[in-house]
Amino acid sequence: MNSIKVALIGCGFFGQQLAYGFQKNGAELVGVQDINHQQAVDLATSLNTVAYLDVADMLQQSKPDLVLIATYNYAHRQVAEQALQVGCAVFIETPFATEAEDCQQILTLAAQNDKPVFIGHVLRALPGLLKAKQLIEQQALGRITVARANRQRWIDSARDKNWWKNDIKLTGGKLLHEIHELDLLCWLLGEVDSVYAQSTNRAHSDTPDNHDIIQLLLQFKNGVFGSLEMGTAYRLHEWGISIHGELGSLVVNFFTSTLTLSFADGRRQQFNLYDEFEADLSLRENGKSTQKYNQINELCPFWLSRAVEIEALSVLQHLQGQQRSVLHDSPARAVCVAVAAKRSIQEKVLIKVQYN
Ligand SMILES: NC(=O)c1ccc[n+]([C@@H]2O[C@H](COP(=O)([O-])OP(=O)(O)OC[C@H]3O[C@@H](n4cnc5c(N)ncnc54)[C@H](O)[C@@H]3O)[C@@H](O)[C@H]2O)c1
Repeated sequence: MNSIKVALIGCGFFGQQLAYGFQKNGAELVGVQDINHQQAVDLATSLNTVAYLDVADMLQQSKPDLVLIATYNYAHRQVAEQALQVGCAVFIETPFATEAEDCQQILTLAAQNDKPVFIGHVLRALPGLLKAKQLIEQQALGRITVARANRQRWIDSARDKNWWKNDIKLTGGKLLHEIHELDLLCWLLGEVDSVYAQSTNRAHSDTPDNHDIIQLLLQFKNGVFGSLEMGTAYRLHEWGISIHGELGSLVVNFFTSTLTLSFADGRRQQFNLYDEFEADLSLRENGKSTQKYNQINELCPFWLSRAVEIEALSVLQHLQGQQRSVLHDSPARAVCVAVAAKRSIQEKVLIKVQYN
């Protein structure tokens, strides 16, 4: 079978991980582009491909099947549209976009061109999370009643206030920029009907727009009550998801890299999130320190680069018709909830989530 031709737009920290991850799984990296051309040149040199100055030239000359997008969040839409317009599939890093309308526009264009959109919801592709999804669908926990997700840690004040990740106009704000746990809740449990949210900045006065305590109360359409607590003002770190059903509970603990099931009849089962010794160990060892996430030129820990390889394989297998990728499912759901939550924060009322 011919290898999938892949091009990359945005050659920074995560674009590099994507390029390696897709190449490692047999994709042919036919070109890379970045508004900082030197960044593209450096990556092209290390991965033996071509650095382009211009996106349109790259798409026309390198003819990729799939375009990987790892630019600043607000720019995802513009480059995704360029790629879809010339008939490429797109893989867009998280968050999908900073506005729900942007997601909708991209999905409409993708449907018109009959091309798939994948979002880099990297945690979904981990074996332990796939298992959690399967167990919930098989009703192993019975009817789900309530769920809670946390991504709580402490981060020191920003070293560079001008870094784009500190500018909410470029990121869309922390709720969007760090959307993984909200996405997992929405992917595992279904559409959220309405959300009430509050947020504040209590410990990072140098970046006042970036709220460091964010709390969401979620009412799912299927009746599940959910909550999400996240931020960078928590001295006690927590990172996980707990889901309760009438027959038992399921706990995803990222600090131990485990999925634990406890049933009302006393049975207990435990799975590792990766089921690969080195990756599970790396997550256990680095889980807390990688939560810093506020430093330029951070190194990618093994658990994360391995997760990128796993998600790359899932996308390539989808494109080769082997099996549907979970990164293609309900791509905009979490962004729609996050956008509604941001409105709730501003208006201090419960907001009904709009999906299109
Ligand atoms: N899934 C995850 O866990 C995860 C982790 C890190 C980053 N990300 C996402 O990946 C994306 C990139 O983040 P990063 O950490 O690599 O940031 P980064 O600053 O290291 O790299 C971003 C790169 O994009 C380039 N760029 C910006 N706008 C562009 C445009 N319009 N066209 C071409 N190039 C452009 C910049 O010059 C820079 O080189 C973001 O959307 C971020 O949220 C996801």
